[in-house]
Amino acid sequence: MTSTAPIAVPAQPPVGAFDGGAVFVEGRYAPLSEGKISLFDWGFTRSDATYDVASAHNGAFFRLADHIERFFASLAELRLAIPYDREQLRQILHGCVRAGGLKDAYVAMVCTRGVPPRGARDPRLAQNRFYAYALPYVWIAPPDKQRSGIDLHISQRRRIAPESVDPRVKNYHWIDLVQSMFDAYDRGHDTSCVVDAAGHVTEGPGFNVFMVKDGVVRTADSGVLEGISRRTAIELCARLGIALRIEPLPAAAVRAADEVFITSTGGGILPIARIDGAPLPRFPGPITQRLHDAYWAMREEPAYRDPVDYR
Ligand SMILES: Cc1ncc(COP(=O)(O)O)c(C=O)c1O
Repeated sequence: MTSTAPIAVPAQPPVGAFDGGAVFVEGRYAPLSEGKISLFDWGFTRSDATYDVASAHNGAFFRLADHIERFFASLAELRLAIPYDREQLRQILHGCVRAGGLKDAYVAMVCTRGVPPRGARDPRLAQNRFYAYALPYVWIAPPDKQRSGIDLHISQRRRIAPESVDPRVKNYHWIDLVQSMFDAYDRGHDTSCVVDAAGHVTEGPGFNVFMVKDGVVRTADSGVLEGISRRTAIELCARLGIALRIEPLPAAAVRAADEVFITSTGGGILPIARIDGAPLPRFPGPITQRLHDAYWAMREEPAYRDPVDYR
């Protein structure tokens, strides 16, 4: 049974009340050490959950309304519900960053199916659970690795079929992605991406993949999470007059690209230096660099910023 009637959100704790990071669990703010869920929650036993991750830099969220919108769309798709409306959720996320005393933060919102009554196997009987937390910002690759150059492995592992789990619903079905990371590490590469049934490059653990060839930017049209950073890169191509095609990415085309970059809330737009150890012709490529700079400038635009109140 899911409860959808909005309930009151507690007042935000003082700035730095839980210095270094805060959670919102069971309807209250708490230190990170209290960020726990039940062993019997289907979110754990069946990956029956959805989540979203936003970020704050220099004390302001980026495209928070878009992250919240995507989270509500994911909830609806999975027939999950939280007892908060969009504005209340926004308040809770701000509260976590404020309580953590964080200026640069990784901010997650999570809804799990919850624990059905003992012996019951009907997901409709479970009380859905909501969690949120803010941690110090997490990069997909540490800044020194970004400078020295990320080596991306194209794994032969297939992303779980979109007909089975809709990748546009942000989910914890990550075994394929995590195994692909081991594939990469075993071969001496830094991170990985996986392919679809046709062998087209889809996405990696926490990021979308773009390639540039002859001045044209390309990214996968399906089989991927529609990342907020992906959307930002797409919009920036339009703004900057850069040609863009949203279409399947054969692995061979990615290997033959002039430039490759990945997009993620955990780093924005990050250039790739090598594919399976083979250097790309341009690192960081000129188009990647333009998009990277435009991304960080866009984060400062008032329309996309949602500043945290640290008073
Ligand atoms: C599987 C997957 N693809 C892509 C992304 C990038 O999405 P966003 O730009 O919204 O962070 C993520 C983010 O965590 C992800 O988990």
